[in-house]
Amino acid sequence: MTRPVILSDDDNNLARCARAISNGQLVAFPTETVYGLGADATCDVAVSLIFETKQRPRFNPLIVHVADTATAKKIVQFNSRAEALADAFWPGPLSLVLPRRRNCGLSLLVSAGLDSIAVRVPAHPLAQKFLTKVDRPIAAPSANPSEEISPTTALHVFYSFLADSSSDNLLVLDGGACEVGLESSVIDISGEQTVLLRPGGITDKAIETVTGKLTVAKNDNRIPSSPGMLRRHYAPSTPLRLNALSLKEGEILLGFGPTPVNTQFNLSPSGNLVEAAANLFAMLRALDTAAPKCIAVMPIPLEGLGLAINDRLRRAAAPQFELTDT
Ligand code: TXA
Ligand code: MG
Repeated sequence: MTRPVILSDDDNNLARCARAISNGQLVAFPTETVYGLGADATCDVAVSLIFETKQRPRFNPLIVHVADTATAKKIVQFNSRAEALADAFWPGPLSLVLPRRRNCGLSLLVSAGLDSIAVRVPAHPLAQKFLTKVDRPIAAPSANPSEEISPTTALHVFYSFLADSSSDNLLVLDGGACEVGLESSVIDISGEQTVLLRPGGITDKAIETVTGKLTVAKNDNRIPSSPGMLRRHYAPSTPLRLNALSLKEGEILLGFGPTPVNTQFNLSPSGNLVEAAANLFAMLRALDTAAPKCIAVMPIPLEGLGLAINDRLRRAAAPQFELTDT
C-alpha cells in the first residue's frame, strides 16, 4: 500500500503538483472551505479517477475551480446576477450553477449529464497559486471518501485515503487548516429563480443582499434538486443525537456555548458561529476516533452560519440510506 504524500507549499512542490494535474493525476489541495480532490476538468480519465477514488455516484456533478471571474466566463454563460454575485463574493466560498458553454472544453463527466456547471473561485492563497500554475480548470469535490466527513487539514486527507489502494501517489498540498471549515454555498442562477442548493460558507442573508429573496431547494427527499444533496453525508461512524441539552450514559458531548457538563469538545465556548463552523468537521473526526456510544450535539442556533452547520449535522445524523452524497 502506498501512502498519500503530504507536500509543503514551496515552489518545487507546487510545480510537482501542477505536473501531476497535467499528467491526469489527482492532487488534493486546500481551499478556504475544505480540501478538494482535484483533477484536470478537461480530461475524462482524470475526472473519472475522482469518482473512482471517492466512490462517488456518477450522477453527482463536480464543482469546477478557476482562478478568476474571467476564466469562469469561458466555461459558463454569465448573467447579471452572476456578475453581481461574483463581484460581491469571489474569490470566496460561493459556487454558482450556470449554463455550460458549448465548446468550453470541459469533460462531460464533470456535469454528470446536466446542461449546467457549478463554478467557483476559491480565496485560499495556495489554491490561487495552484490554479494559476496549473493554468486550467480543476474539478474538485471535497477530498473525502463518499459520505464521510469533509477534510479541513492535509492530515485529514492523508488518513481518509491511507487504506485506499487506488489513491497511490495521491499528492496532498498542505495549506494548513481551512479557515471557513464548511463547504461553499451553492446557488443555481441558471434559471429565473435564485435557488439555494446548499447552504455553506456565505450566509443566506449576505447572498440575499445581492440577489433578493432566495428560493431554498427542498433536498430532504429521494430526488434532490441538487444531485449531491442527499440525506446522509458528512457522517462519522458513531451515531449522532442532535439538540442535546444533557448527556446520556455512554455519550460524549459536542458543546456550543456554555455546557451543562465538562467536555473536551466545544465548537465555540463563546457561542461564535464562525468559530463553530471552522471546528465542526475536525471535532466530529476527533469524537469519532474516541468511539463513544453516541455523540450528543448541543443545539446550534438556526441563523447565519448556523443554518449550514445544522444542515451538515442533520445529514451526519441521518441513517444509512441507499442513495448517498459525497
Ligand atoms: O467548498 C466546496 O464547495 C468544496 C471545495 C473543495 O471547493 N467542494 C465541494 O464539492 O464541496 P462537492 O462535490 O463535495 O459538492 C458539490 C455540490 C454537490 O452537492 C453537487 O451536487 C453540487 O455541488 N453541484 C455541482 N454541480 C452542480 C450542478 N451543475 N447543478 C446542481 N448542483 C451541482
Ligand atoms: Mg463533499
